[in-house]
Amino acid sequence: MTVGIDLIHFATADFYLGLDTFAQEKGTALEKYTQGIGQEKMSIAPPDEDIVTLAAKAADPILAQIDKQAITAVLFATESGIDQSKSAGAFLHGLLGLSHRCRTIELKHACYGGTAALQMANALVHANPKEQILVIASDIAKYDIDSSGEATQGCGAVAMLVKTDPRILAIEPGSGYYTDDVMDFWRPNHRTTALVDGKYSTKVYLNSLKQAWWHFVEQTGRTFEQIDAFCYHIPFSRMTEKAHKTLTKTVGARLSPATFAQQVQPGQQYNRIVGNSYSASLFIGFCSFLDHAPDDLTDHRFGLFSYGSGCVAEFFTGKVQSGYESVLFKQQHQTALSQRQSLSYQDYLRFYYPNIEDPDHTVFAHHNPGPYRLSAIKQAMRQYQNCHKTSP
Ligand code: CAA
Repeated sequence: MTVGIDLIHFATADFYLGLDTFAQEKGTALEKYTQGIGQEKMSIAPPDEDIVTLAAKAADPILAQIDKQAITAVLFATESGIDQSKSAGAFLHGLLGLSHRCRTIELKHACYGGTAALQMANALVHANPKEQILVIASDIAKYDIDSSGEATQGCGAVAMLVKTDPRILAIEPGSGYYTDDVMDFWRPNHRTTALVDGKYSTKVYLNSLKQAWWHFVEQTGRTFEQIDAFCYHIPFSRMTEKAHKTLTKTVGARLSPATFAQQVQPGQQYNRIVGNSYSASLFIGFCSFLDHAPDDLTDHRFGLFSYGSGCVAEFFTGKVQSGYESVLFKQQHQTALSQRQSLSYQDYLRFYYPNIEDPDHTVFAHHNPGPYRLSAIKQAMRQYQNCHKTSP
């Protein structure tokens, strides 16, 4: 029995801040961003967009193709949670009108949460092949103004349908993983922005990659040469190059620049213009690879490396299924990205500091042109609007 990703679609906010605008504002050389960290744009969520509306936007095209009443669980990964008790999955379940015969849960470990959700879904389907699970990874990456992380913000959500006989990626058994209790990036409950020791986090990421890789080899017996393409967690797109260099050095592989690029570059395209989306970013990278690969990827083995600060990491593999191209959402991804509106730095600040006098009672101005929006908070309860229902 094969189990894995049957459909995958991602969504991001309808606004972005160009790193050119950012560089001008900060008086920094643009090349620091375009070359040094490999970013051109970062998606910025307006105040009436949150992880639930992003997730619903990501899930919509998948649900339009299946019987949504057949979804048996929603596993929602995020590190930008909106409630300390109720899962974001329950809000999403209501907004999407899913069956009551369904379980919802929220999973967290920084950017690793999406992989935890995917592996949990994979195990649930292996245990009961009747399961059809909606895996969501949705995050808004927000750092302090003028901190080193400010240039590496962004947002996005990925929705994946996990079931038997998947049409896109069959997840292979076995993986390598690694945990260490470190403080490279964290967000205490009272803060809306993350704290990070940027240089240290990069070192911990690369060490975790080596550790997870060796464990993967021990567990599966698979080798570097048996993997055709690599997707890494992408906090900023140049991290992929740092990671792949580290892995090739670790295994002693000598790749030509062309082979190196072929193994990773298609996976960097979307993140370069979306920015960091924490738990979703590995999977937006995977969408990017599928949508940009110049050749047919059928039967290609992908290596996927997930890293969550704090830290947990996992390396796992999957095989691309024959016919996958006919079920990709390439056109939808590219149209949505090209239709985003550019923000001035002042507009970005207006979104960054929403004017909320009372967090228990707020009506949000309508900025978000997407199919779902956060319209208000009444008596501390979030009110979502399904614009499919309210539009004329
Ligand atoms: N032209 C070309 N390159 C330039 C340049 C110029 N004019 N000016 C600087 N650069 C290069 C630098 O040489 C450097 O390259 P190397 O990494 O190869 O040394 C790169 O641009 C970045 O420059 P700095 O190191 O000076 O930049 P910084 O101090 O602003 O820090 C950062 C960069 C650490 C990524 C910071 O943006 C940050 O803290 N981001 C948030 C944390 C993060 O993303 N960490 C990654 C690992 S943790 C993780 O993955 C989890 C997660 O999602 C957060």
